[in-house]
Amino acid sequence: MLASRPVRFAVLASGAGSNFEALAAAAEREALGGTIALVLCDVPDAPVLDRAARRGIAGLTPPVGRFRTRLEDERPWLDALTAHAIDVVLCAGFMRRLHATLLTPFAGRMLNIHPSLLPSFAGRDGIGDALAHGVRVTGCTVHLVESEVDSGPIVAQAAVPVLDGDTRESLAARIHAAEHALYPEAVRRYVREPWRREGRRIVFGEGAGLAGLPAAEVAHG
Ligand code: GAR
Repeated sequence: MLASRPVRFAVLASGAGSNFEALAAAAEREALGGTIALVLCDVPDAPVLDRAARRGIAGLTPPVGRFRTRLEDERPWLDALTAHAIDVVLCAGFMRRLHATLLTPFAGRMLNIHPSLLPSFAGRDGIGDALAHGVRVTGCTVHLVESEVDSGPIVAQAAVPVLDGDTRESLAARIHAAEHALYPEAVRRYVREPWRREGRRIVFGEGAGLAGLPAAEVAHG
């Protein structure tokens, strides 16, 4: 049986929050498969927090500790997800690596969007790296978050052409537009439609889908 109650999502973000906006707009028109109950952010003055506030969605900035590329202690972040009974976490421009404290309870329940056609151009600057490499086609990827960065099974991808004369800005604008269409639809499919996992492949059309995963331990005790 696929879950029929609305899924409770949290968005993890660090910056502008345009993907958060696309996800929240989809949720409002009941096209996401659930509701966004929480935004967690590692940058206290990030615009995504204003966007969340404008939409009446709780925005929190748990402590990040001493490091730049990871959270020193993930437990306060897990506690916030627990307190809000979150089922599925959506990373949307969250620029820190995650580790077992968050990844284990949300195995299969944490998605990310990356601005390239993975496995090409993983890392912090997927757009700039693709442009510098000279590829003619790049794009964006929605994938499950696992401990290796930008490496989890792929849920959905969209291709974006690189045009002669593209600058980083013009290419980024085209990729962001593709992300805003791809991410909400990929999330809806992942939480609402049947799928099964075959090795690294997520095969849609049959299988228990999200309902086949153990409940997010944090949310349901
Ligand atoms: C997006 O392009 C997203 O794919 C990228 O950060 C941007 C966030 O924009 N994420 C990564 O590069 C993760 N490795 P937004 O804050 O406007 O959604």
